[in-house]
Amino acid sequence: MKIQAINGFKDILPDSIGQWQYIEQTARDVFERFGMQEIRMPILEKTELFVRSIGAATDVVEKEMYTFGDKGITMRPEATASIMRAFIEHGLHVQQPVHRLYTIGPMFRHERPQKGRLRQFHQLDAEVIGAVEPRVDAELIAMGHMLLDELGLQVRLELNSLGCPVCRPPFKAQLIAFLEQKNEGLCDDCKRRTHTNPLRVLDCKKPACRVLVQEAPSLLDSLCPECDLHFGEVREALENLGIPFQINRFMVRGLDYYTRTTFEFLTTDLGAQAAVGAGGRYDGLIEQLGGPAISGIGFAMGLERIALLMEQQDANKLPASTMDVFLVALGGNTLAPCSQLAHALRKQGAKVAIDYSSRSLKAQLKQASRVNARYALIVGEDEWARGEGILRNMKTQEQQSFALTGSSDEQGLRLIEALNIAIQ
Ligand code: HAM
Repeated sequence: MKIQAINGFKDILPDSIGQWQYIEQTARDVFERFGMQEIRMPILEKTELFVRSIGAATDVVEKEMYTFGDKGITMRPEATASIMRAFIEHGLHVQQPVHRLYTIGPMFRHERPQKGRLRQFHQLDAEVIGAVEPRVDAELIAMGHMLLDELGLQVRLELNSLGCPVCRPPFKAQLIAFLEQKNEGLCDDCKRRTHTNPLRVLDCKKPACRVLVQEAPSLLDSLCPECDLHFGEVREALENLGIPFQINRFMVRGLDYYTRTTFEFLTTDLGAQAAVGAGGRYDGLIEQLGGPAISGIGFAMGLERIALLMEQQDANKLPASTMDVFLVALGGNTLAPCSQLAHALRKQGAKVAIDYSSRSLKAQLKQASRVNARYALIVGEDEWARGEGILRNMKTQEQQSFALTGSSDEQGLRLIEALNIAIQ
């Protein structure tokens, strides 16, 4: 029996790698324009880190974590908690007041796999730590917007505020009272959530719950003056940067650490998986994890969802990967000099393919087209004896003879010159 990958865990095949690298490279490029620095953390963390940050009553912690053995160790379900752990552990706040950090890597959640939802997925995660100003919120959101825009994607930005430890508890009490009145009509999950995590009822996807919560009180009407001011200034700062958004007073997010600004980049093109990226402020999190009392804001985007959406929306056509030269060695005594030439060319920075099987010219030229070679250098026994090869432009099929004299390094340099291969 063939062994297959585990359900929800996917290979990323060479055909898709160009797209993945393009997304990652565009992200690095955009993030670095905003002064972000990369950080890489381990995949395994102490379980307690996620319980204390994401929250014990969240779906992620309750049902979706890959936790091992004595339950002390968990495969990270997201990156924010790990970045905060590393930030605190290494005392980064002592070095400078504001840190802008990003990471790209795999995350693990034991969810029911479907299109755009995996058990191992990849996030582009960006965090700004140590800044409270609403303009920082707007700038971070604008960075996410710029990235999606440069990838050629059309998405909708939704915005909400989740208040703070001053205004949220009284609102929660008000919401619980409302939900208790409507208890009959709620789904079983929401009946339970009414007391464990009442805010989550607001974004239940079940039609009956959606109807009921239309009349629910809104946290936006209960914000304390500081949170209200902050939210107003974030909206103004976004308008100032020309970033379109909609307010969604039902957005609550699935992780408990959020305060004030929350946002999601959404699409209707990925079926049930509407969120391409999401994030928000987490002003109490660092202190709660034993660090200094400083605030933070960040977001994460799902790489699989971005890749799917690019296909769906027929976004930016990627440049096809190409080889500069395909060396066609035809016959026993041409193999050694051709392999030397290939090595010299690669040392000089060219992308070179070579076939050592001495297959027919026709078969090798077919292979050269398959790997998108721009040129083929055909070296048969007769040509080699005369100290030359035939250089073929794979696009126009024009051919000319090419002198193969001197050392392989000299041949390589001349060939590069002749082909004008731009060496990085
Ligand atoms: P999140 O909303 O749980 O937030 O995930 C962020 C993004 O990761 C989602 O919008 C989605 O694109 C992708 N994603 C999540 N789960 C899956 C999955 N099972 N399969 C495929 N893609 C998925 C966070 O993780 C927060 N740490 C974001 C954040 C950073 N907040 C502040 N800083």
